Amino acid sequence: MTYRLDYEEDVLTVIDRLKDEHRDIDRKLSRVAEICRNYESGKIKVALSLLRTVSTEILRHAVEEEAIVARAIMKSKVTKEDSVESVSILQEHRRIKEFFEDKLPYLTNEFSEQKVRKEILEFIDEIMTHHKGEEKVVFPLA
Ligand SMILES: [Fe+2]
Ligand SMILES: [Fe+2]
Repeated sequence: MTYRLDYEEDVLTVIDRLKDEHRDIDRKLSRVAEICRNYESGKIKVALSLLRTVSTEILRHAVEEEAIVARAIMKSKVTKEDSVESVSILQEHRRIKEFFEDKLPYLTNEFSEQKVRKEILEFIDEIMTHHKGEEKVVFPLA
């Protein structure tokens, strides 16, 4: 998938938008988590399709972080030691991408509903922690 990115845009403007997107994504994921937590039967399909819908948004968001935020950190005077933590936070994108590409498509067929709920809840937890890490560590560096 390719995305059109505006490299002329000010980094602070980009970061503000990325933070807004975190709120928006977290809100959608909270809705998915809510469905997974209360055990109404049949609802798991709704949770999975919501998750699929939000995946495009999450992946596009990650591409922009790598292209613009990571680039700004590299170009800044931040030392290698200072940027180690932010690099490892941004590397979590790989796991996020793997979940959407290699796990999500097979979740219903391969696992019990209980396992599907557990996998989704763990993933949502991971993404939300990732967002917090970016706002605390990565964005201030850029
Ligand atoms: Fe990210
Ligand atoms: Fe992010």
